[in-house]
Amino acid sequence: MKRQPRSSPCFAKGLRTTSIIGTGSYAPEKRLTNDDLSRMVDTSDEWITTRTGIKERRIAAKDEQTSDMAAKAALRALEQANVKPEALDLILVATATPDMVFPATACFVQKKIGAKKAACFDVSAACAGFLFAVEIGQQFISSRTYEYVMVIGADKLTAITNWTDRNTCVLFGDGAGAALLAHRGDAHGVISTYMASDGKFSDILFMPGGGTKTPITRENAHMNLHTIHMSGKEVYKQAVTAMLAAAKKTIERAGLAVEDIACIIPHQANLRIIEAVGERLGIPREKVFVNVDRYGNTSAAAVAIALDEANRSGRIKKGDYVLMVVFGGGLTWASTIVEW
Ligand code: UT7
Repeated sequence: MKRQPRSSPCFAKGLRTTSIIGTGSYAPEKRLTNDDLSRMVDTSDEWITTRTGIKERRIAAKDEQTSDMAAKAALRALEQANVKPEALDLILVATATPDMVFPATACFVQKKIGAKKAACFDVSAACAGFLFAVEIGQQFISSRTYEYVMVIGADKLTAITNWTDRNTCVLFGDGAGAALLAHRGDAHGVISTYMASDGKFSDILFMPGGGTKTPITRENAHMNLHTIHMSGKEVYKQAVTAMLAAAKKTIERAGLAVEDIACIIPHQANLRIIEAVGERLGIPREKVFVNVDRYGNTSAAAVAIALDEANRSGRIKKGDYVLMVVFGGGLTWASTIVEW
């Protein structure tokens, strides 16, 4: 018999439940394969495949911005839910690669999809941003402040990639994913959430330039400060530990057992990280959703795209407990369990 979730903070008195009523995603057409990369830097399909599980990634066009990808994903989620853009109360865009420092990329999305009455802002939590944004959106629906919240994870990491650094340039891709949040009485919706950060590790995954600390100047432009800097091994270690802890925490908070989870959708950065988290959690391989082979690490978009693919392909079904878990620069990490 299906186990019922414990009454978690998400069901506190006076609050209402929050469901994901539509999903959408978008990935640019252009594919960059491992063989293509082996002609750009000293690497090989064999190295990339065995160390990361990535086979290819999508690359946005020069004139295709984060907000363009985000808008396309959002429109698909709206279409699936049969909700008009004008009905949106709030648009949240989780991104580490905004179109501009300001205004928020969410404002550009608003303009592109015609969501006239929505309030808009961005969420900065790197690769973990989508679930941070889901948690924020959930609060507004649960508290009856808003009826429809569009949550988007979108990144154009290839715009901040150092294409001469083989340690990082083989890992990233571009894309966007979106989830439309609203109250629906026929499901528990979001039943458990967890978010965490540790600024002590802010220097193992970061982009040093472009902010107020180190503006990009004519003098330092050649130093690649405007690109991703990462201590891969250290990030790997922290990612496995943090994602495992976050997943366990949400399962425990929901009053569920690992066996109750029908599908786990982890951040798609590296197949070895995904497998390590799945194994240590004790979840069978077939319940773990993977698309890192086709997109690489798309940062805040990764789990959002995976969620849309799992939804549209029928991999997750009404009533399933779906666990998402993410990890990124900051460090930041989070997990959410949704009853689909
Ligand atoms: O979104 C969240 C953030 N990102 C992540 O979660 C990424 C986390 N880290 C990782 O996924 C892995 O650490 C990497 C895939 C980045 C690297 O894998 P690794 O098994 O930790 O490799 P490594 O850094 O220990 O490098 C092993 C060797 C090195 O050579 P030496 O020093 O042992 O001779 C690297 O220079 O592999 C070399 N190497 C490469 N060789 C061929 C590094 N990148 C490449 C490459 N092609 N692209």
